[in-house]
Amino acid sequence: MGCCWAHALFFCSSVFLAITQSTAVDTFNSSQPIADGDTIVSAGDTFVLGFFSPRNSSTNRYLGIWYRNIPGQAVVWVANRDNPINGSTGLLTVNSQGNLALLSSLDEDGPSIWSSNSSRPARNPVAQLLDSGNLVVREAGDDDNFLWQSFDYPCDTLLPGMKLGLDRRTGFDRYLTSSKAADDPSSGGFTYRIDPRGYPEIIQREGSTERYRTGPWNGLRFSGTPYLRPNPIYMFQFVVSDQEIYYSYLLDNTSTVSRLVLNPNGVIQRLTWSGDTQGWVVYVTAQMDFCDRYALCGAYGRCNIRSSPVCNCLRGFEPKVPNEWELVNWSNGCVRQTALNCSGDGFVKYSGVKLPETRRSWFNVSMSLEECRGNCLRSCNCTAYANIDIRNGGSGCLLWFSELIDIRELEDSGQDIYIRMAASEIEATGDSETNSKSSTRKQVIVLSVVLSAGLLLICLALIFFLRHLRQKRQREMGGDPEDNARFSTNKDDLELPLFDIAAISVATNNFSLSNVVGEGGFGPVYKGVLKDGQEIAVKRLSKDSKQGLGEFKNEAKHIAKLQHRNLVKLLGCCIQEEEMILVYELMPNKSLDYFIFNENQSMLLDWPTRYQIINGIARGILYLHQDSRLRIIHRDLKAGNILLDFEMNPKISDFGLARSFSESDSKTNTRKVVGTYGYMSPEYAIDGIYSVKSDVFSFGVMVLEIVSGKRNRGFSHPDHQLNLLGHAWKLYQEGKYEEVIDNTVRNSCDLEQVFRSVNIALLCIQRSPEDRPNMSSVVLMLSCEGDLPQPKEPGFYGERDFVEVAKSSTNKYSADISITEIEAR
Ligand SMILES: *[C@@H]1O[C@H](CO)[C@@H](O)[C@H](O)[C@H]1NC(C)=O
Ligand SMILES: *[C@@H]1O[C@H](CO)[C@@H](O)[C@H](O)[C@H]1NC(C)=O
Ligand SMILES: *[C@@H]1O[C@H](CO)[C@@H](O)[C@H](O)[C@H]1NC(C)=O
Ligand SMILES: *[C@@H]1O[C@H](CO)[C@@H](O)[C@H](O)[C@H]1NC(C)=O
Ligand SMILES: *[C@@H]1O[C@H](CO)[C@@H](O)[C@H](O)[C@H]1NC(C)=O
Ligand SMILES: *[C@@H]1O[C@H](CO)[C@@H](O)[C@H](O)[C@H]1NC(C)=O
Ligand SMILES: *[C@@H]1O[C@H](CO)[C@@H](O)[C@H](O)[C@H]1NC(C)=O
Ligand SMILES: *[C@@H]1O[C@H](CO)[C@@H](O)[C@H](O)[C@H]1NC(C)=O
Ligand SMILES: *[C@@H]1O[C@H](CO)[C@@H](O)[C@H](O)[C@H]1NC(C)=O
Repeated sequence: MGCCWAHALFFCSSVFLAITQSTAVDTFNSSQPIADGDTIVSAGDTFVLGFFSPRNSSTNRYLGIWYRNIPGQAVVWVANRDNPINGSTGLLTVNSQGNLALLSSLDEDGPSIWSSNSSRPARNPVAQLLDSGNLVVREAGDDDNFLWQSFDYPCDTLLPGMKLGLDRRTGFDRYLTSSKAADDPSSGGFTYRIDPRGYPEIIQREGSTERYRTGPWNGLRFSGTPYLRPNPIYMFQFVVSDQEIYYSYLLDNTSTVSRLVLNPNGVIQRLTWSGDTQGWVVYVTAQMDFCDRYALCGAYGRCNIRSSPVCNCLRGFEPKVPNEWELVNWSNGCVRQTALNCSGDGFVKYSGVKLPETRRSWFNVSMSLEECRGNCLRSCNCTAYANIDIRNGGSGCLLWFSELIDIRELEDSGQDIYIRMAASEIEATGDSETNSKSSTRKQVIVLSVVLSAGLLLICLALIFFLRHLRQKRQREMGGDPEDNARFSTNKDDLELPLFDIAAISVATNNFSLSNVVGEGGFGPVYKGVLKDGQEIAVKRLSKDSKQGLGEFKNEAKHIAKLQHRNLVKLLGCCIQEEEMILVYELMPNKSLDYFIFNENQSMLLDWPTRYQIINGIARGILYLHQDSRLRIIHRDLKAGNILLDFEMNPKISDFGLARSFSESDSKTNTRKVVGTYGYMSPEYAIDGIYSVKSDVFSFGVMVLEIVSGKRNRGFSHPDHQLNLLGHAWKLYQEGKYEEVIDNTVRNSCDLEQVFRSVNIALLCIQRSPEDRPNMSSVVLMLSCEGDLPQPKEPGFYGERDFVEVAKSSTNKYSADISITEIEAR
């Protein structure tokens, strides 16, 4: 009888167990292990704990936590990232001491491949997945005191409420370690970690090498992170006390989904889930541009992304190794022109900078700036001083006792530093902390007023000229029926997130001239920062540009439907109060032409980077031609339309002239020839026939430009009258293809890859479109090792060809901008 009851009870409890697990409880104890296939769901339905396999593997199993209601299984924590289980036999248990153990087999007494360690012995422990994504072990009935928590063991993701930093009493340190790859959660090469030496800051390293630093905290943000400011998404804090040093953040609205991630490539990004696009949006990237590369300019150098070259010595300093400096190798930095004399020194004030590395610094938070200066002056080794906290006029004292490394200029968001100089230098430059930079500033203001007035005049003249031209042409042609038929003005067609004009206006400083970063096909491009800190590029349609309107709509229509890592990403648009604006993610490193055609900048692109860029462009075009929903011919591929992201990945931009094509009419004739001289294929420029093979031709031209560092247009050679295409063709025929290579990459280049690139480029620029390969063959040829076909004679390789076409045109520009039209014959 008693036996029967016992059976019944056992039966009941097993059923209960099965039910509770399938209806998603958030807690388990020592009698309820979690097997592969079971999941635990947090109370608010936000996170799931369970076993998963990365996309590329079917056998490797990991125990992890991911968002429950977001597609794509974004994993935020992994227990056994370096110790996968082979097959679906894993089991997670919590034992009676409160330790979690992950077993590779269902045998509960078997060896564990991962375990947690409770901070103190437990009596009746339970494990719970909280709605914050934190997996905790606690005593049953005590909700607040955790014996262990996964938040103390971050992987590559910092969730709201997690601390990035250390406990000074125990030395316990929490930091991010990247994953190997998007589909491989094992520990990768990058870390993002607080360095407590001197005044603390967060440092990103690759192995043990520093790559990026945030700069020290200044009360409002880290010195080098202007994007960290009050915003509608999250609040952040940095705590420095005797007990702890850490950074953490919380979301303003818990229904927002946002996380900080150290990506496999070392880039630190805040990603926010967008319900509109059903995708993760890059909200901000910590490393903004080149100048964020650690110590790019060496000791006493300063980096300014707007100057060319970006590195300069501080005033009163000169390059330590001038030869290297001229060759754009700034790593040895600068040295003083006049040595310090301990007693007679003074200070020069610099405003608007990211403070130098603080590892060998000293600080006192209650000292005034005056005391700070005195302290620095008294110590002969002190090289600089600054306020720690910039709020309320500044307070605290930070002293440096070593070379000053990794300074960058941030214009309006930087802070002040006082750098020790010999007295004679201060007199010579007329600069000291008392007589700051007012006289130079005055000169700068006068100069810029004069310059902008001049610029304005030129712009007005240009606008007038263009309008005149356009009106004349419209009279002649009666508008462009092609465009009118294809594009309605209905903004609903665009299916894009809409931005408010007021927000864009604030972001770009009321479309200030100083925010202009370039000129797109149909108007200026501004750099801007949204209220929430996201950096954007804003393309604005010039108000009186009718043809621009067509291009604008065309671009919006096409790019809204495209998504590829080698295409720029459109964030949204704004059509309001007669404004037509497209908003893109900002590409800090400018465009390809800025690098390859500039003697100084080109040294920053070594051969492996160039080859990667060639491959990226090829894949982007292949996507346009073949894999995208629309199947698109770009029609204006050129180095100026290839933008580069922080890691020098190429992104194709400017779709104002793009046309989509259906399979039946893959070759189209147009009355209106648009594009850029030097990149246009002959059949297009002369007969107005365009097809995917016109893009292939432009790609070939770009490859030759990347390899040679020379523009096709304007190329000249003492020995012949050929353009770059003809030059490459001649050298190829003579077997001297290596003479095509840009001098600056000659040392870093792989001759086999160069040969392959030149050969492929020559195939792409063959005179007859039928002979040119399509982009899928190009991508294949770039990646394989086999023999390549022999190219035939290129089209357009004598300079005369150009003259002929140019004569037929009304266009008078010599610069490398997209031309508007050539009347077809
Ligand atoms: C585990 O929890 C279940 C119900 O949640 C309970 O019946 C059981 O007694 C607990 N086991 C231990 C060892 O505390
Ligand atoms: C994983 O298990 C499968 C089948 O049991 C076996 O074939 C394979 O070799 C194992 N892989 C590893 C890496 O142990
Ligand atoms: C667990 O922590 C205790 C003290 O907290 C320590 O003595 C012990 O070595 C740790 N065990 C493991 C496996 O880390
Ligand atoms: C898949 O991930 C494993 C690591 O688990 C990695 O070694 C491998 O290269 C990846 N394979 C592919 C095709 O990405
Ligand atoms: C939080 O966001 C949701 C959805 O976006 C919104 O409905 C809600 O009003 C917001 N709550 C607060 C307090 O702002
Ligand atoms: C720059 O110079 C340093 C020191 O002379 C050298 O170690 C380094 O390799 C150089 N870097 C490049 C890219 O040439
Ligand atoms: C340092 O400055 C003091 C006072 O200006 C001067 O007397 C002394 O000669 C200087 N010493 C050196 C080594 O220049
Ligand atoms: C910091 O500066 C204050 C004010 O000058 C002083 O009273 C205090 O002793 C200093 N603290 C340290 C640790 O030097
Ligand atoms: C100053 O520098 C000298 C030589 O570099 C060193 O011997 C001395 O210890 C330093 N003094 C301080 C206070 O750092």
